[in-house]
Amino acid sequence: MNIPENSIINFSDFISSISDGQLSSWAANLPKDIQCSMAPDRWGDMPTWEQALRSLPEINCSKLDLKNGVFIGQLGDSSNTEIKYLEQSLMKLHPWRKGPFFISGLHIDTEWRSDWKWDRIIPHISPLDEKLVLDVGCGNGYHCLRMAGEGAARVIGIDPSIKFIYQFYAIKNYINQYFHQTKVNSQILVDVLPVKAESLPKKLKAFDTVFSMGVIYHRRSPSEHLSKLWSLVKPGGEVVLETLIIEGGLGDQLKPKGRYAKMSNVWSIPSIETVLCWMEENKFKNCRVVDISITSFKEQRSSNWMKFESLSNFLDKTNSRLTVEGYPAPIRAVFVAEA
Ligand SMILES: C[S@@+](CC[C@H](N)C(=O)[O-])C[C@H]1O[C@@H](n2cnc3c(N)ncnc32)[C@H](O)[C@@H]1O
Repeated sequence: MNIPENSIINFSDFISSISDGQLSSWAANLPKDIQCSMAPDRWGDMPTWEQALRSLPEINCSKLDLKNGVFIGQLGDSSNTEIKYLEQSLMKLHPWRKGPFFISGLHIDTEWRSDWKWDRIIPHISPLDEKLVLDVGCGNGYHCLRMAGEGAARVIGIDPSIKFIYQFYAIKNYINQYFHQTKVNSQILVDVLPVKAESLPKKLKAFDTVFSMGVIYHRRSPSEHLSKLWSLVKPGGEVVLETLIIEGGLGDQLKPKGRYAKMSNVWSIPSIETVLCWMEENKFKNCRVVDISITSFKEQRSSNWMKFESLSNFLDKTNSRLTVEGYPAPIRAVFVAEA
């Protein structure tokens, strides 16, 4: 039986694959959590997304490279007509925020250059070879695929935004086609599940590396989020936290009144010292900041695949150091620590 019933996305194989071993306590709750988060009455557009996934065309995929980007197939694998049809099918899942993806020569030019974030993170973390990895708030799973490209044994992403889950399975469909067509005798184990971090069992302590990127400022209690991450990672494992930050000292944090850069659900943007203090209070060891970067109009922008407003509309037209609400413009930092 599919979970939820009749969906083209089938989580049953994933659930049986974790029903023995270190993730078994999670397997018991998952069917109920998935059913609840994918309840059709919560998502009016769900039939369109289901239909988009069902109508994806089969195309040739002669190559797979997840190490240098997300490249599935290559130019020349498909005719112009096939590419046009592929483009129209994937466009039904607009807006595409995280990427880019390249499928059989089609460039899904997403709002974000998520590959730039990955390039900033990867030199600073422990190798992912053979690791069990969790990506909390993974969006459409772009970084999950890059984690697999780094050799992770298994990557699990979680995100409660259901359209992103459909985007992930649209992309995964072509990875499956690559393995099916080329008969290459290996697989990549990457799954994205429609659940929130809070619904994972207490004290799972199973993952070698846990990522939380772009999530903590959306959480009402940053400390609870960090404590959750700590409870998910194995003793000695690593947590990679990426967040918006402000300039300032220990204890400083911006609590926007109303929106921040037109986002409605930003609760708190801390200084670096404040994040390090929160991490230490939550029992993390060797907490360090490894990257700080100002988000540029090249990294976040509208495109054909994300036609809505983007960073240039979120900043003050006369002073790009401020958001339209008068707050400091987005700066992001990456923190690494051990449990
Ligand atoms: C800014 S996006 C970041 C996506 C991706 N991690 C990245 O860095 O590009 C934040 C994501 O966190 C997800 N999210 C929000 N609350 C969450 C929660 N409680 N548990 C897991 N994910 C959550 C949102 O649905 C959204 O996709």
